[in-house]
Amino acid sequence: MSLQGKKIVLAVTGSIAAYKTPHFVRLLIKAGAEVRVLITDSATQFVTPLSLSTVSKHTVLGNLTEGDNWNNHVELGLWADAMVIAPCSANTLGKLSNGLCDNLVCAVYLSARCPVFIAPAMDEDMWLHASTQANILKVRGVGNQVIPVAHGELASGLVGEGRMAEPEDIVNFLTLFFSANKPLEGVKALVTAGPTYEQIDPVRFIGNYSSGKMGIAIAEALADKGAQVTLVLGPSNERTFHANITTVHVHSAADMYSACTETYKEAKIAVLAAAVADYRPAETATEKIKKKEVELDLKLVKTNDILAMLGKIKQPWQTLVGFALETNNELENAKEKLQAKNADMIVLNSLKDEGAGFGVDTNKITIITREKQSGLPLQSKTDAAKAIVDHILEMTHAETTA
Ligand code: CTP
Repeated sequence: MSLQGKKIVLAVTGSIAAYKTPHFVRLLIKAGAEVRVLITDSATQFVTPLSLSTVSKHTVLGNLTEGDNWNNHVELGLWADAMVIAPCSANTLGKLSNGLCDNLVCAVYLSARCPVFIAPAMDEDMWLHASTQANILKVRGVGNQVIPVAHGELASGLVGEGRMAEPEDIVNFLTLFFSANKPLEGVKALVTAGPTYEQIDPVRFIGNYSSGKMGIAIAEALADKGAQVTLVLGPSNERTFHANITTVHVHSAADMYSACTETYKEAKIAVLAAAVADYRPAETATEKIKKKEVELDLKLVKTNDILAMLGKIKQPWQTLVGFALETNNELENAKEKLQAKNADMIVLNSLKDEGAGFGVDTNKITIITREKQSGLPLQSKTDAAKAIVDHILEMTHAETTA
């Protein structure tokens, strides 16, 4: 395990732990990495740029503008295989979580297309403050890796949580990340998520309560295993910034259908988690419908069943996964869907289960394949997504080795 050939941008910000960074740079170089160092003004009170340029063998950059060169943040963001912000002060964390950009570190962070690792360092009370914790959730939520803080003696003299992880531990964290098992490297996958909106007139639609969270978690779990994922996302406020995911935004069932048929041609794995409308208005009024009548009849017609359509053209090398949201006869209905739509797996959620279904961050699912069914406990949607991907891997591996 090593960081051989990895290009790492290290950003040092204002915390006493900055005094450990020359040693950290040495460890990164010893592990095979090439390192460029950025420093904030306040960090220069704890470590000198001269020490860091001596060990990294490159000029340490501190300013957004350097003579005529004002855009080296873009170059660095493209150059890096990883950006490590260590130590990350409470102030920098606050800026990162809000997308502020008043120095070079923030500009490179916003330009970076690579994974970003944040190693916070601060006093225990600052670390435990609700604002800091909210900022940590926010930076994690947009796909950054947060390296856990350590427990021990703090600069204030207190003993507690908030110390920056030791440089050796950060190197191990990075090494593990880059050597992590990526069984889906090079595999193309299609995931649908969110609701669809079927337009009645220019201001009204038929929709549903789907948030898109479950489908996005599945797209991220596949991407974490190395897959190149196309996420076809209906109208949803949720977003993902995973480097391996391309999001295609769609509105109606018809839009989702055409986005899927194109992508499906090359997808080895397709997981259809979207709550697609089964019916749409037969006609969309071009003007707003006025409330002239006491009653209004809306004629609805069926939409294309995307899962069933993809099931019909499925090739032996493809794995097709559908969802079933049921309120009664759950297992029976789900098994019927598996057959009828020619899927390889159905993920069943029941609206009867507390903590499962639309909008919440948890789910209770049963995974049904032709061979078996596994009921899983109530868990976060992220963990449920990992379990679904593990089942897909198990199934595709069994098929390729059979
Ligand atoms: N689905 C789809 N296209 C549709 C409707 C559903 O691709 N027009 C997919 C969903 O993404 C999901 C699965 O079909 O993977 C099951 O959807 P669900 O609404 O539970 O079942 P339906 O097939 O619509 O059947 P019913 O509403 O009668 O239960």
